[in-house]
Formats: sequence, C-alpha cells, structure tokens
Amino acid sequence: MKSLSRRLILGGGAALLTGSAAAPQAARSATAVPGLHSQAVAKGLFFGTAVDHTLLEEDTAYMAHVPRECGMVVGEASFKWEHLQPAPNKFVFDQAEGLMGFAARRHLRVRGHTLVWHEAMPDWLAPQLSRATAERILTTHVRTVTQHFHRRLAHWDVVNEVLKPEDNNPFGLRETPWLKAMGARYIDVAFETCAANDPTALRVLNEYGTDYAVPWEEKKRGALLNLLASLKARNVPIQAVGLQAHLDASQVALDQKVLNNFVNSIAAMGLSVVVTELDVRDNNLPADVPSRDVAIAAHAKAWLDAVLACPAVSGVMTWGLSDRRSWLNEKYKRADALPQRPLPLDADLRRKKMWDAIAASLASAPRRAA
Ligand code: XIL
Repeated sequence: MKSLSRRLILGGGAALLTGSAAAPQAARSATAVPGLHSQAVAKGLFFGTAVDHTLLEEDTAYMAHVPRECGMVVGEASFKWEHLQPAPNKFVFDQAEGLMGFAARRHLRVRGHTLVWHEAMPDWLAPQLSRATAERILTTHVRTVTQHFHRRLAHWDVVNEVLKPEDNNPFGLRETPWLKAMGARYIDVAFETCAANDPTALRVLNEYGTDYAVPWEEKKRGALLNLLASLKARNVPIQAVGLQAHLDASQVALDQKVLNNFVNSIAAMGLSVVVTELDVRDNNLPADVPSRDVAIAAHAKAWLDAVLACPAVSGVMTWGLSDRRSWLNEKYKRADALPQRPLPLDADLRRKKMWDAIAASLASAPRRAA
C-alpha cells in the first residue's frame, strides 16, 4: 500500500508540473480563472481559509484575495477562549466581530473556532476548574458565546484536539484540565450547550493527526471512531468531524486507501466531514523552491483526492491563504531559516502549484447532491 501511495504522489506531481509549466505564474494570476470557492461550488463543496486578525487590520492586499478564492473564513485566533473571555465573565468580541464584519461585507460564511480547547486558555481558567465549578464555567462560556453569534456562524468547532491515546485515558482522551475536572462528560456538555443556544451552526469535533499510515495516527483514527460511536450512542448532538490536515510533504506513509476508508467510516455514522486547517509543511525538504512546490502540491493532491472521494466531505479550508503568513514558520522552523511554502498563494499573492493541486482535486471530486 505504501508503494502504491508513493506512485500516486509522484504521478500527481508530474501532472501538476506539466500543467502549469506553460503558464507563467504572474500571467495566470491576472487571468479570470475562477477562484477555488467557485470551483468548489461547481461540485457542491465550499473552499475557505483561516484569517489572522493582524492581516485583517493591516494587509489589504492579502485580504483582497480572500473573497476571490474563498466562500468561508475562520478566525485563526479571534474566537478562542483567551480572546473571547480574557477574565472571568468578561466577554470581549471586538476582534471576532472584525472578521464577522469583513465576512458580511464580502458575503462570506464564517466558521467558529473553537469553543473548548486545552490551548489558548487564559491564565485564570485552568486554576478555577474543579469538580464543583467546571461545568458552570464551561456552560457559561459556551452559552454566552453561542448566543452572541446566534445564527451568524455556519459551523462551530465545539471541541478541538480532545484525543491523545498516549495519555492512556478511556477512549484515548487527552489529559486536559477539562477531562480532569469533569471526565469525558465535558464533551457532551459542550455539544449540548452549543445545540441548545445556536442550533443552526454545524457542530464539529475537530482533530489532527489522522492523516498517515503510521502507528500513532492509526491509534488516533481508531480512538476517534470509537469516541464518535459512543457520542452517537449517547445521543450527543455532534454533526460533523473536522480533519485539520496539517500535512508533511516529506511523509511517505500517505495511504489513500486507509484515508478513504477512515473518512467513509465517519460518514457511515451519519456524520459529515470538513477539512478544516489544510497546509503542507516542508521543513524536512531541501531548499530548492520549484521542487518544494512540486512535492507540496503532489502531497496535498494525493491527500485531498482520497478524502474528497467521499461524498460526506462538505468542503476544504486552508490554514491561511498565502505563504506570507503561516503558523508553521514558528511551529516547525526550517534548519536553513527559509520561509515555508505550505499554502495556495505564494508570499507575493500569486497562485502556485498548491493552488493548482487543490483546483485539480476539486475538479475530480464527485459532485455532491444539492
Ligand atoms: C494556531 C495558530 O495558527 C497560531 O497562530 C497560534 O499561535 C496557535 O494556534 N490546530 C488548531 C489551530 O486547531 O487553532 C492552531 O492554530 C493550529 C493547530
């Protein structure tokens, strides 16, 4: 299976290389080739990206490309707990509302990310959580935030990254302040409170590390399917799974069959699937830019082809639109200190091979029922 995947990747890369060699990048960007969202809509899908508030406030050139390529946006940080409730019972929506305003003017839908996460917790929060207090603190936050955005969001990532099988908890749950204070029930409470207060936002469980045929990700896929089955059996109102898709261009264990089976197993439980944070890191690849771009594009295409083949997948979000800004440059620095090239547009906002790869995957995806 691994060698099959490798062949698929190389085949995809060669096709992408030939496809774009004829058209210089600048010329291609100036043409009226429809953006990725238009191409997605033709298949009943959507395309979108994460937007950091600094771009929204400071980079009009970047932001001009967002509505050209996207039908959906998500705040890279602005909807996280530390921003929305920086002090107990002090809710601050200014940054998030900045993105809401931009999206409303440009007729873009918005995903909320994220209600409950073990990161981006303000300093006051974890020390306050005990058996006696945690449920009230959780429901206050989720209720206040979901009521505030009532009917204005397309999706909520209700919980983020709740799994870590290495922690050896039941269901492979991550050891977090929430798990310690409430047990697995914190997930149920988060979904129920979201459903009760903003029933029109699609309720998503968002997770990473489910992409490759390597042992720790195999464990995580298994744990995720078990957790979903148990949430469904308890009638927890979950509706979808978010696959973050933070990919690594140097990873050879991309097995399209494993990936496709996994997504189909989620769909078989009556859940939809959203690709929520796609990017492809190149910190393990040599410096040469053209060959990095080919490898990144081929990798993204192999992953997307396998996932978009399943009709339960409703759309694709990248974690940023242009290489001008990516969290990967902090999280996974290259040894040569060069900036990474993980996103569809380059740092000069020109469409690159990663863009071609996404367009090609959307083009070959089966059309979704209206
Ligand atoms: C990241 C942001 O991109 C960074 O700017 C921030 O410092 C940390 O969080 N998975 C997620 C996202 O669900 O919220 C993370 O975003 C990236 C990994």
